[in-house]
Amino acid sequence: MKKGFLFAFICVSSLLLRAQKFEGLAPTPPMGWNSWNIFGTDINEEKIRSMADLLVSTGMKEAGYTYLVLDDGWMAGERDSITGNLVADPKKFPHGMKAIGDYIHAKGLKFGIYNCAGTKTCQGLPGTRGYEYQDARLYAAFGVDYLKFDWCNTSGIQAAEAYTTMSNALRKAGRPMLFSICEWGVNRPWEWAGSVGQLWRTTEDIWQVFDGYHDYGTWKAWSVMTIADQNGTLRKYAGPGHWNDPDMLEVGNGMSLVEDKTHFALWAMMAAPLMLGNDLRKMNAQTAALLTNRDVIAIDQDTLGIQGFKYSDNDSVQTWFKPLQHGDWAVCFLNRGSKPKEVYFYWKSEPVNDTLFHQRLDKTYNYRLQNVWTGTIEGNTSMPYSGKLQPHEAALYRLKR
Ligand code: GLA
Repeated sequence: MKKGFLFAFICVSSLLLRAQKFEGLAPTPPMGWNSWNIFGTDINEEKIRSMADLLVSTGMKEAGYTYLVLDDGWMAGERDSITGNLVADPKKFPHGMKAIGDYIHAKGLKFGIYNCAGTKTCQGLPGTRGYEYQDARLYAAFGVDYLKFDWCNTSGIQAAEAYTTMSNALRKAGRPMLFSICEWGVNRPWEWAGSVGQLWRTTEDIWQVFDGYHDYGTWKAWSVMTIADQNGTLRKYAGPGHWNDPDMLEVGNGMSLVEDKTHFALWAMMAAPLMLGNDLRKMNAQTAALLTNRDVIAIDQDTLGIQGFKYSDNDSVQTWFKPLQHGDWAVCFLNRGSKPKEVYFYWKSEPVNDTLFHQRLDKTYNYRLQNVWTGTIEGNTSMPYSGKLQPHEAALYRLKR
C-alpha cells in the first residue's frame, strides 16, 4: 500500500515537473530567423553556420531574434532503414543535426527544425505520421528548441488530433520545445491550438508583395496586406503563450523600403511572431536598421500581449491601435492605396476603445507622441494629428504616458 502510494506520488510529481517545463515558453511572440523564404530547400551546413554567425554580428540576436529554424529540406529522402530514424541529408549536412544544433547553441541562439504531420513534407521528404514519439525523441537528442510542424500529405487525418499527438510526444520527450503549428489556418487552429502549441499559422504562405496574391493554381500565396486582412480578424484568440502567426517576414526580400516598413509595423501591431526570412549575408544597412528598431520590436513584444486592431479603414487609409503596458498605446496610420494621402486624427473626439481586452484610450490625458521611425517626440495628443502618407507608407507612433 505504502509502496503503491510512493509510486503514484513519484509519477504525479514527474508529470507535473514535465508539464512545468513547457509552461511560459512564449510569453511574448517568438523571434528568430527561418530558412524557407529566402533559401527554400537550398540549405546546407555552411549557409546555416553563416546565418548563425550573422545573427550575432549584425545585432539581430541582441535585438531578440534568437531562434534559428531550419525549414524543409534538411533531411535525406528516406528514414534509416534499421532504426527508422530521420536522417540529415548527408551532402548538405555531413556532420548531422546534432552538430549544427551545437554550433547554433554555441552562438547563444536556439535551434529550430521542421517536419510535417503528413506522410511526407511539402517537399516530399519523410513526414512524421506514425513516428511522432520517435521523432520527438530524436529532436530532443539533437538539442532542438523549436519545431515547426507542417500540414502537407495529410489526407484522412484530423488536424487537432494530429497536432495534439505531436505536442504530447514533445512533452514526453522531455526537452522544452516551442511548437509552431503550420496548417495554414484551414482547420481554424485558433479555436483548438491554444493548449497544443505556442503559435499557429493563420493563412497560407506569404509572398513578397505588398498587396494582392500569387496564384499557384491549387493554392495561393498571399501578400502582406491580404494576410493582415485575414490575421487581423483573429485577435481575440492571441495572448501570452499562444499567438496568431501571419507567417514569416519578407523584409529585405525585394519590396521597397517603404513597404518593408509597413509590413514590419503591421506585424508588430498584430503581436506576430517575428521570424526573419532574408539572406543576412546580403542585408543592407537600411534593412538591418529597420529589423533592429527597438521601438518597433517593443510594440510587438509588449508584455500585455494584446494583438492590435484595425480601428478604421477609410478611402485606403487604415488606422490600427494596440494597447501597451503602463497605459501606453501604439498607433499606425497606413496608406494601402496608390495615391498619396493626407491623414488627420482627432485624439480628443475619436472613441478608441478596446472592448475585447478592456482598454480605452484616455481622452482626458495628453500622451506624448513618439515617432517610432525616428525616435523623436512630436508633440502630444492635445493637438489633432495631421500627416502625409505616400502610397503604401505607414506612420507608426507610440503614445506615451
Ligand atoms: C509550407 C509552409 C511553408 C514552408 C514550406 C516548406 O508551404 O507553409 O512555410 O514550411 O511548406 O515546404
